[in-house]
This record gives sequence, C-alpha cells and structure tokens, in this order.
Amino acid sequence: MKVGIIGAGMVGSSAAYALAMLGIASEIVLVDNNADLAQAQAEDISHAVPFVSATVVRAGDYDDCAGAGVIIISAGVSQKPGETRLELLGRNAEVFRNVIGRILQAAPQALLLIASNPVDIMTDIATRLSGLPPQRVIGSGTILDTARFRSLLGRHLQISPQSVHAYVLGEHGDSEVLGWSNAMVGAVPLQSFAQQAGRPVTDEVRLKIDAGVRGAAYKIIKGKGATYYGIGAGLARIVKTIARDQRDVLSVSSVTKELAGVTDVAASVPRVIGAEGIVMDLVPDLDETERIALNASARMLKDLALSVPC
Ligand code: 2OP
Repeated sequence: MKVGIIGAGMVGSSAAYALAMLGIASEIVLVDNNADLAQAQAEDISHAVPFVSATVVRAGDYDDCAGAGVIIISAGVSQKPGETRLELLGRNAEVFRNVIGRILQAAPQALLLIASNPVDIMTDIATRLSGLPPQRVIGSGTILDTARFRSLLGRHLQISPQSVHAYVLGEHGDSEVLGWSNAMVGAVPLQSFAQQAGRPVTDEVRLKIDAGVRGAAYKIIKGKGATYYGIGAGLARIVKTIARDQRDVLSVSSVTKELAGVTDVAASVPRVIGAEGIVMDLVPDLDETERIALNASARMLKDLALSVPC
C-alpha cells in the first residue's frame, strides 16, 4: 500500500519512520509546505530502510499521493509547553480548510487518518470538509492514551502491556476517561488479576496512573518540546491493520452516531478497523462514574465542534 503523509514535522516523519520499520507500505510520500524539510526527512528515513525493509520513502506534492490507500494528516501547529490541545483549534482548522480539498483531488479513494490536534475536533472537521463517510475518516484519538494506560498498568502489575486489555475513551485530551471497570489482564478482570499477583490496584495507584496517562504529553513537551515517537508508532499500527485488513480492535476517533447519550460526535471508543476503515464500534460496559465522565467529554467535544464553521 502507498501512504501519503501531509505534514513532515516530527509527528509525520515519526509515522513515516515507524511505517518503514514495520515494512508495511510499498511507498511513503512526505508532503510539506516546507519542501526542503520534506526532502530532508524522506532522505534521512530512506537511509534506515536498507536495514529492515524495501519501502520507497520520498518527498513529493499532493499529486504524488495519487493511488495512496491512506493519507495521514499531521499538518498544522502542535502544543507548546503549558498549552492545551484545544488551544490549537483555530489555527489547525484553517490548515485543514487548505489541505483537505487538495488531498481529495489527488487521492479520492484514500482513507484519511487524522493526527493533528485537537484530534477529535479535527476529525470532525475533516469529515465535514471531505464529505466522506465517517468510517473512512479516522482520528488517532486515544490510541496513544490507551498505550500509555497499558504501559503504566503493565508496569504496576509486572506484566507485558500487550496482555493488558484496557482502553481510554472520549477525548484525546484533558477530559479523557480511563476505562477501569472493564479492564482485563488476559481473560481475567483487572482487580482479580491484581489480587492474584499480589499487586493490588488501590485508589492511590489508580490516581497515580490516571495522572500519568492524562499528564503524559504535558510532561514530555516540557522536557523535550514535543511528543512524536509514541504517536508515530500508533499511526503506523492503524495503517497496518488497514493495509492487511486485520480487523484489530483499536481505540480511535470518528464521528459516531451516539456516544454516552451524545449524538454525532467525534471521540474515541474501541473500534474494529480493516481495509475499508472502521468496520464496527464497540460499546464498552462502563460503571456510572465512567459513563457520566464520558458523557461530559463527548458533550464538550460536540459543543466545540459545532462552534467551528467549515
Ligand atoms: C500527545 O498526546 C501531544 O497529543 C499529543 O502526545
């Protein structure tokens, strides 16, 4: 599969690097307003390719994305230290008004994979601007928060994060909801596993993990100015399930008919993803506190999305 990446900054180039390492794409085209940057990133990544795969990585223009199966959109500004994702909305909405039409013209059959923040609202905007069915416009959503949640839980329980089945729902941002009540380890409910392993998940542990997940990006941005390796790997993981029609369950954002009592809102729940995009939404069992929090998160996102004209 050919993959186009619009925006060759740290997120776009990390996605390209992760894709090249996984050897999923036959060709990756990096497009950026700054053509020199796109060229330099493509060249640098292409020098890593001979070690692992045969992916062609090159810089190009929108037209060079013709025939792509997926277009990743990572264009726009990213958070500065202390800034929230939602504060980027006005600037990135303007960027999307400029790029979506050009993408559709070049690659009308491509699935759109949105990474720019605030990713849920940008997914809503991209869906409206493109006129594509919501199943074909996927936001990276909470895929990264879910990875952070599994990583911290795995560390506490002293097991592989890949054996933790737990999801972060709602906004990719401050109002996100960690799904504690339905978390499993293997086929065992979290609390039961934690007791058996002698690693109880107390209120204190929950608060610490919640803060670790919710605050991860702020902490990393304070330390190094941006986050990119995690999201780059997450984007490559989504492309992999699309390219191979794997039908993996991943927590991603998409305009959803109904979520926790809110209609037509872009937010994350676990979804089955395959070659055609989103195949099915999963409706997780939540406890009352989580349901109320998810409703608040979805309501906030819907109100904000409605405030942006397209
Ligand atoms: C992240 O969570 C900043 O949204 C980006 O790493």
